Order: sequence, then structure tokens, then C-alpha cells
Amino acid sequence: CCFEEVAYLLINGELPNEKQLEIYQAELAKNRDLPQSLKAVLEYIPQNAHPMDVMRTAVSFLGNIEPETKENDQFEITTRLLGMLPAALIYWWHYVNQGKRIECTSQAKTVAEHFLTLLHGKKPSDLYQKMMDVSLILYAEHEFNASTFAARVTVATLSDFYSGIVSAIGTLRGPLHGGANEAAMELIEKFTNADDATSGIKKMLAEKQKIMGFGHRVYNECDPRNVVIKKWSKKLADDLGDSKLYDISEAIEKVMWDEKKLFPNLDFYSASAYHYAGIATSLFTPIFVISRTAGWAAHIMEQRKNNRLIRPSANYIGPEARFFVPISLR
Ligand code: COA
Repeated sequence: CCFEEVAYLLINGELPNEKQLEIYQAELAKNRDLPQSLKAVLEYIPQNAHPMDVMRTAVSFLGNIEPETKENDQFEITTRLLGMLPAALIYWWHYVNQGKRIECTSQAKTVAEHFLTLLHGKKPSDLYQKMMDVSLILYAEHEFNASTFAARVTVATLSDFYSGIVSAIGTLRGPLHGGANEAAMELIEKFTNADDATSGIKKMLAEKQKIMGFGHRVYNECDPRNVVIKKWSKKLADDLGDSKLYDISEAIEKVMWDEKKLFPNLDFYSASAYHYAGIATSLFTPIFVISRTAGWAAHIMEQRKNNRLIRPSANYIGPEARFFVPISLR
């Protein structure tokens, strides 16, 4: 199936039939364009800003000009965000890198096709579209991960929908969560070949360094999503006749398993798959945002249905109670 079917399922609780899918895809397409004021804001963001900060700002600014006012707005806002997020990222990207103001809409049927069309300025081939679509599906939802939790904490205060998504984007940014796909790419690129990677990773492990893209808080033996994206990374490597990054990735995977019994998570082979699709490394985590917005939205809606303030208590381990000392005596 395609990403839009998964997004529809997450938000509505059922897979769409053909007619419903067609209507949903058309709705998403209608929501692709950016308001002029948002384009102006994006143009102010410097070239050296991280694209995750661009995503955070874009969602936050949209919350000012298209605020959530009524109870039922959350469905429309979700469609709006899923529609406009690719353009928010890529409008800024082309503007700061090439001084070009791109058209934010396209004839593309799917989010995957639309994203690659805006990025590369031409319709992607079926193979690359499909990889992108699969990747969006894999990233769409993953129960109570850190960014989803952040979104739920935010809306549990009865704050607005956009604030929930902004909190989630800020939380996803870090390399222990979504940022791991970018960190994994930076790691893979350091090595010249598989042998170099094997010795390099052994050295890093001896120095007790963390290897990004490995391990998981919930999975113990394997990340089933990785199995899927790994196949796609291989397909693109074969298509391009360039297996260097794939071979290096496999060498790292082998050492990590032999030495630490650690397995690659979804972020690891997503890195080479995206790279093969001609996507710059700093755009990797924003793609995660484009997809996970569907999952975050579903969680926000669920939280609101049966809301209670999320306020954990802390186990205090500091000093005993002390007397207040006036500033002149300190
Ligand atoms: N590289 C090297 N060692 C790792 C590791 C990694 N990627 N992930 C875990 N370990 C080791 C830790 O050093 C620790 O070893 P120790 O017991 O000798 O100190 C042990 O495995 C347990 O790790 P811990 O960080 O406590 O596990 P966690 O459940 O808290 O962490 C992650 C889960 C995902 C945060 C962690 O595996 C990690 O940081 N991975 C890299 C970042 C990443 O890929 N994030 C995306 C997740 S989808």
C-alpha cells in the first residue's frame, strides 16, 4: 500500500477504500501550497540553519496564521501539515542554496512523489518513488517514542495542535532519536571501504563511542523496519551500480553484531537509501517529520479523547531542606 493509506488508517482508524483514498490524496494535494507570509519567513532563515529548525519554525508560524480555533480543526490541520511540509522544507532549501523561489505545488499523486519532484525539479522514477513511499510508511508511527510522548505531554495541558507538533519536532531532532539517520550517514561516509569501516568501528567501540543507527530501547534482537529499508538501499545501490556505501554499511552491521550483539535500527540503512536517492544528509530527519506527523497527529487525537494532565513526580535525591540565607549574608 502507499503512505497515504497508512496516514488515513492512523487518523481515521480504518484503511480507506479506493474512493476514500482518491479523495484523501486530492485533499493532501490541495494543501501543498504555502501562504506568502510563510514563504517570507522561510526566506529569512539562514543557509546554515538546520533543516529541522526550519520545520519547527514552519509549523510554529503556520500555527499563527492558520490557528486551531474549533474542536474539529485537528483533522484539517493534520491534512494541511501532511500536505505542506514537503514544500516548507524544500522551498527554503532551494531558496538559500540557489536563490530560487520554487513552485510549491506539483502534479504528483503521492507525498513521496511530490517530495522528490520538488527536491530534484523533475518527476522521480518509479523505483525511487517507491523507496521514498516505503520509507514514509516505515517512519509513520512507532507507539510511545520520545517525540510522540513530547507531543502528548504538550497537548495534555490543553494546548493547541501545532504546539504538540512543534514539541515533537524539537524532540525528534536529537541523534538519540530521529537525528540518528543523519549521524549514521556522517559515520558511514567517514570510511573508504568495508575493511576501513571494520577497523574504524572496532576502534570506536574500544573507545566506548556510541555508533549511531544501532540499538533500540524497545527492540532487543532486530528492528523489523530495518529489514525492509535495507532491501531498498540494496536495490538503489544496484540501480546506480555503486555499492560502496552499502558495503560499508554491511561491514559496520557485522562488527556491531559480532562485538556487541547490537543490530541496525531503521535509521541506519535509511541513510544510504536516502543518499542513493540524491537527498542531502541534513534533509534526512525532516523526512522523518513529514511522515511521523501522521503518527503524532493520531496520538494527539487519542490523548485529547481521554485527556489527563501528564505530570510525573520526581524522586528527589538532593540535599535536605535548608534555611533561607539573606543575600547580604551569603
Ligand atoms: N553503540 C554502541 N553501544 C551501544 C549503542 C550503540 N548505538 N546502543 C547501546 N549501546 C550499549 C551502551 O553503551 C550500553 O552499554 P553498557 O551497558 O556497557 O554501558 C548498552 O548498550 C545499553 O545501552 P543504553 O544506551 O542504556 O540503551 P538504551 O535503551 O538507553 O538506548 C538507544 C537506546 C537507541 C538510545 C541507544 O541504543 C543509542 O543511543 N543508539 C544510537 C542512537 C540511535 O540510533 N537512535 C535511534 C533509535 S531508533
